[in-house]
Amino acid sequence: MSKKILVTGGIGYIGSHTVVELLQQNFEVFIVDNLSNSHISVLEGIEKITGKKPHFTKLDLVNKLAVEQYFTKHHDIDAVIHFAALKSVNESVAEPLKYYQNNLGSLINLLSNMISLKLNYLVFSSSCTIYGQPDRLPVNEEAPKKTPLSPYGNTKQIAEEIILDTINANDFIKAISLRYFNPIGSHPSSLIGELPLGIPNNLVPYVTQTAAGIRQQLKVYGNDYNTSDGTCIRDYINVVDLAKAHVVAVNRLLENKTKENFEVFNLGTGKGYSVLDVIKAFEKVSKKKLNYAFTERRSGDVEQVWADATKANKVLGWKAEIGLEETMLSAWNWEKKYRGI
Ligand code: NAD
Ligand code: UFG
Repeated sequence: MSKKILVTGGIGYIGSHTVVELLQQNFEVFIVDNLSNSHISVLEGIEKITGKKPHFTKLDLVNKLAVEQYFTKHHDIDAVIHFAALKSVNESVAEPLKYYQNNLGSLINLLSNMISLKLNYLVFSSSCTIYGQPDRLPVNEEAPKKTPLSPYGNTKQIAEEIILDTINANDFIKAISLRYFNPIGSHPSSLIGELPLGIPNNLVPYVTQTAAGIRQQLKVYGNDYNTSDGTCIRDYINVVDLAKAHVVAVNRLLENKTKENFEVFNLGTGKGYSVLDVIKAFEKVSKKKLNYAFTERRSGDVEQVWADATKANKVLGWKAEIGLEETMLSAWNWEKKYRGI
């Protein structure tokens, strides 16, 4: 019988790509999402790609009673992948309580029900923001966590602590926290992709929307950093590669292969690219000149960060496979298809 996986936030960007990979590996997928940052039409894209229909329930994970009722009905879930969270760094600075309530409230409700139903396995979406500006690069999982630069980043740090404390008190629960670097790109079918609501905060959707004529000009935040070309460096990871790591993590839990009850893994390519590298890659694959200009630094940006993903490579047997140019092309193809260009 196929294993039942609950995917919270499964209509969102990374969640939807992971649902596709899970369905393709014959898991039975149960999505809960309140659609606060996603559109239900994503379900159609998932069905077109896989030929399968995941179960979907519109539900706000902050609603304690609704979560309890959901789990009463679905008490035979085998593992949970918890993507659901709000993720805008800027918005979290302006509305910190909204972020603490949503991101931590939903995690607490989820864990409470896992305890009462004796559900064993959790995969959690964490972030490289918890390393801040690392003292050494590439950064590995042993690096000290730095004071978060935003309430959003703080929710990821606190969430990892909440999970660890919960596991220490309930040793039947095992969790894997996946610390993503910068997920970009889209499924090669262009049937699902990144769909930011309103003006994008992130680099790649801003690039593709500028090229599509929706934004006038990309502002590059700072060209006076201590990097080879003066712009910030990040580890941009293809979203399909990232999604596949979740399937590996779920299997590791289900097959009882974990060495510790709480394991953490960096998910990145191990390569750092500057903002200008990303623009150049985009221009090459799209054969379009991008309108961009340098402007002041954005507050809260770290100068440079990229992953030491050796632990994920060795222990999970997972490796990012898709390069920057192919990934930028997938982002552009998705934008074109979505806009009907
Ligand atoms: P997303 O906004 O596209 O997806 C999150 C989904 O969760 C959305 O569909 C949203 O509607 C849903 N959601 C939010 N709050 C909810 C609630 N209370 N109840 C039910 N559903 C809720 O974001 P994403 O980029 O797919 O990110 C997924 C996870 O990965 C998040 O936890 C995010 O913090 C983390 N992450 C993302 C990035 C990134 O750059 N995209 C980097 C590191 C970590
Ligand atoms: N950038 C620009 N112009 C823009 C947008 C971004 O120059 O319009 C630059 C930024 O200054 C940064 C780089 O592009 O140097 C990447 O910025 P993003 O906003 O795309 O990504 P961040 O590294 O700031 O943060 C992202 C997510 C966070 C997540 C973090 C680590 O937004 O939620 O990756 O995973 F926590």
